[in-house]
Amino acid sequence: MHFCIINGVNLNMLGTREPHIYGTETLDDLELMLREHVKDVELTFFQSNIEGEIVNCIHECYHNKIDGIVINPAAFTHYSYAIADAIKGVDIPTIEVHISNIHKREAFRQHSVTASSCIGSISGFGFSGYRLALEHLLYSNRKKDNNK
Ligand code: DQA
Repeated sequence: MHFCIINGVNLNMLGTREPHIYGTETLDDLELMLREHVKDVELTFFQSNIEGEIVNCIHECYHNKIDGIVINPAAFTHYSYAIADAIKGVDIPTIEVHISNIHKREAFRQHSVTASSCIGSISGFGFSGYRLALEHLLYSNRKKDNNK
């Protein structure tokens, strides 16, 4: 099984960026935590501040036969129809994650244009959201394999 964790714009600054909202842990801490949590599964991590690179990464997931995607598009969530289309286009089970609870924040953050391309979304649980998303992908992929 192989999953891809994609982080969007400004998330390379986790740890120093608005720590009262996003915490003090870095993207490297996130990677370490997830790698420790899910063993014997291949994980690929990707972060970019460039919308098109995220679209390319999603296309690569298709070519590499990735089994599931966890994506935090960050601010792209609120306006990137290109990322929404890319997720729809590859038809890979994808879960959207937000560290903060976007529904409790400014009005423009409360709408996601990408979430409807995903099988579900998790918001407001900090880094645990990524872990929960991965757990679901693992569970559903194992179930699918068992039913073959
Ligand atoms: C975020 C929420 C977005 O509104 C914001 O632009 C981010 C991070 C989150 O993880 O809480 O950059 O996606």
